Amino acid sequence: MLQKTYIRHLKEKIGEDVDLAGWVTHVRGSGKVYFVQFRDGTGFVQIVSGASDVPAEEFEMIKHLTQESSIRVHGKVVESPKAPLGFEVIASHIELVSKTENYPISPKEHGTDFLMDWRHLWIRSPREHAILTIRHHIAQAIREYFDSRDFTLVDAPIFTPNECEGSSTLFATPYFDSTAYLSQSGQLYMEAACQAFGRAYCFGPTFRAENSNTRRHLTEFWMVEPEVAYMDLEGDIELAEGLVQAITKHVLTHNAHELKLLERDTKALEITANEPFARVSYTDAVKIIQDSGSPFKWGDDFGGADETIVGSKFNRPVIVYDYPTGIKPFYMKKSAENPKVVRNMDILAPEGFGEIIGGGQREEDLNVLEEAIKKQGLSPETYSWYLDVRRYGSVPHAGFGLGLERTVAWICNLPHVRETGAFPRLPNRLKP
Ligand code: 4AD
Ligand code: MG
Repeated sequence: MLQKTYIRHLKEKIGEDVDLAGWVTHVRGSGKVYFVQFRDGTGFVQIVSGASDVPAEEFEMIKHLTQESSIRVHGKVVESPKAPLGFEVIASHIELVSKTENYPISPKEHGTDFLMDWRHLWIRSPREHAILTIRHHIAQAIREYFDSRDFTLVDAPIFTPNECEGSSTLFATPYFDSTAYLSQSGQLYMEAACQAFGRAYCFGPTFRAENSNTRRHLTEFWMVEPEVAYMDLEGDIELAEGLVQAITKHVLTHNAHELKLLERDTKALEITANEPFARVSYTDAVKIIQDSGSPFKWGDDFGGADETIVGSKFNRPVIVYDYPTGIKPFYMKKSAENPKVVRNMDILAPEGFGEIIGGGQREEDLNVLEEAIKKQGLSPETYSWYLDVRRYGSVPHAGFGLGLERTVAWICNLPHVRETGAFPRLPNRLKP
């Protein structure tokens, strides 16, 4: 049961007999011929079944095929200018594997909440399939980018003893006699890893107990986090810009079919792939927000709406750098010129999508870092292991985190991050 042909490879098999295995999406026909719309996970193709092509009892079965019944097909691939792919399969045998009754998702319009309840089935639909295929290709582009640039993959733990991105978004869980927190970010571990490997990255799930029902927030999301020893903010920005360009190039090359199915206008993606990004300091970004009529003050943190205002000024991603120290985590490196700001950067996606990357240079001075930890009300004992990275051979270093789901939402032009993963976790959704 190993050898079969996938629809993805059918166009190389025109004129040949093939064995397909998959599911019925739709059947139409009349007395003499039936057209079975068929998918196998790698694509969709039309199966044509004439009364004289298949045995009589199979033809009878085909008449009664239902949406999402599973079937095996033996047939010949033939050119057909009228078929969506330019070819179709003329069946000589169709075997029913399992008959489906009352499939809950019909071709009619359903509400998103309804579809989310049936997410385990909804992912079979062409649109969801296209989004998840693009997600797969983005992940592939990310791994290729780092693997081909001397990075070593170092997996960060999910159970952690301390916070990285602020106590207000920690998920706590009993851990025998103590408490563990689900990782908000692998960064602190990558800071240790970059002093072992020079260039390290982790790529995995991270968690935020953010009870905000926005179009940009998940409680569980994937992040890729590179960290490089002997790198400053400028090097960090170049690395991040290169990654976003590599992702968009890869998707434009490999996912033309999916982008078309999603009716994605690719202009912004093409500019992103080929041209340098815009850059503004936090201070200049504040002016842009204020000029739009907002009462935003220097020192405030950007909300989603503020990011949309700044991002909309540019037709490409924009790098915002040097944020106020007061709104950023303890680990960020203070600017030598202006202690009120840190040497960090966020990358805002174009078209109003907001932040997809956050990162920057890290504080490498043991005493300054210890003070920052205390100042944020955290205990230096908890971070003792992390401070060791400064005690033993401290060097300037920098890194960033790119959120996979936000990137998928932008590249696919989705109004909400909930469709960017197969089984999304949101404040009000833990099922299926
Ligand atoms: O800006 P954040 O919080 O940065 C960090 O966690 C750093 N420790 C990363 C680093 O420097 N190694 O998160 C990074 C990215 C954001 O830009 C965003 O894309 C994504 O992670 N992100 C979320 N995505 C979905 N839902 C959420 N609740 C997210 N929070 C952050
Ligand atoms: Mg951020």
